[in-house]
Amino acid sequence: MEKKFRKIGILSSGGDAPGMSAAIKSVTCSAISRGVEVVGILGGYSGLINNRLRPLTKNDVSGIISLGGTYLYSDRCDEFKTEEGMAKAIETCKKNNIDGIIAIGGDGTFRGATDLSVRGIPCIGLPGTIDNDITATDTTIGFDTAMNTVLDLCDRLRDTSESHARCTVVEVMGRNAGYIAIETGIALNAIGVALQEVPFDKEALFKRMIEMREQGRRSFIVIVAEGLGTAFAEALTKEIEEKTGIESRFNRPAHIVRGGIPTLRDRVLASVMGDKAVDLLLQGQSDVVICSRNNQIVATDIKYALIVDRMYKNKLKPGDLDAFTPEQIEEMKALCEERKAYFVDMCDIANTIGC
Ligand code: F6P
Repeated sequence: MEKKFRKIGILSSGGDAPGMSAAIKSVTCSAISRGVEVVGILGGYSGLINNRLRPLTKNDVSGIISLGGTYLYSDRCDEFKTEEGMAKAIETCKKNNIDGIIAIGGDGTFRGATDLSVRGIPCIGLPGTIDNDITATDTTIGFDTAMNTVLDLCDRLRDTSESHARCTVVEVMGRNAGYIAIETGIALNAIGVALQEVPFDKEALFKRMIEMREQGRRSFIVIVAEGLGTAFAEALTKEIEEKTGIESRFNRPAHIVRGGIPTLRDRVLASVMGDKAVDLLLQGQSDVVICSRNNQIVATDIKYALIVDRMYKNKLKPGDLDAFTPEQIEEMKALCEERKAYFVDMCDIANTIGC
């Protein structure tokens, strides 16, 4: 018999991302419109373990679509990875009659959602992270806003760089992925973009800079992805100065890029994905993450999403692919190739047109 949902929980977990609040608003309003109560779980999975809940009405969330950060707060919760923590979380669900959960976050959040799903609490994931590092979806909630924030900051840095005829090397967030770096690098006309996905040719960068300086170019922006390690961008700044003679400064906006009001794209993505998550949860789906693929909003099995991520990072463990059909494995490989080709092509464009 189909499960009747009376109350669902919503939480955000992992690094916050602009648009998470818009997703919370969407889930809340979508569920209430379908006759289902909603309870907000405060502070991610640790809120579930510690029974920190807040009932949500449409009125509570009507003004949060433009809120930065996350209205329900967030956490990276190690206790949830233990059997004891998991048992407490399930107890909270039972005690409060929570029939299912929608969890917004990145891969760690989805691992938690899958753990709950297999223990009888239906869960659906929403991809919320500025890094865009979830291979199964083309875009994550928060990515667009973070990139626009980088643009705004770097346009300011360019003003001062231009006044002083300097190069500014900017390290942008993206722990495991260079999406923010490559897209903002192109949008900023950076003279160089360095990221972990594609080998970086320092000598070619120095040569381009010297040529442009000879033609009268005063200022330069170089974008570096955080994934290259903390020392990389600072060392590159020094080397640029030494090898080109161009005065250089290093800048790391770090968490500033995670804040701020979500862009239109992130608000729409969060709203559409949130509604889809509720629709599928109430239809009886579980253990899936909502993804955007080729402009379609689709549900992807969470295990598939996690394994394709591992495949992409060349971190597959023995047995990881056992549960998948040969067709699914081929599809995963094609997706990984698509992502890798994207970085190669985009870096090629950035290096060709950056000046
Ligand atoms: O959420 C992703 C992210 O912002 C990464 O880009 C960054 O490396 C990391 O989180 C920072 O984590 P924390 O907020 O725990 O310092």
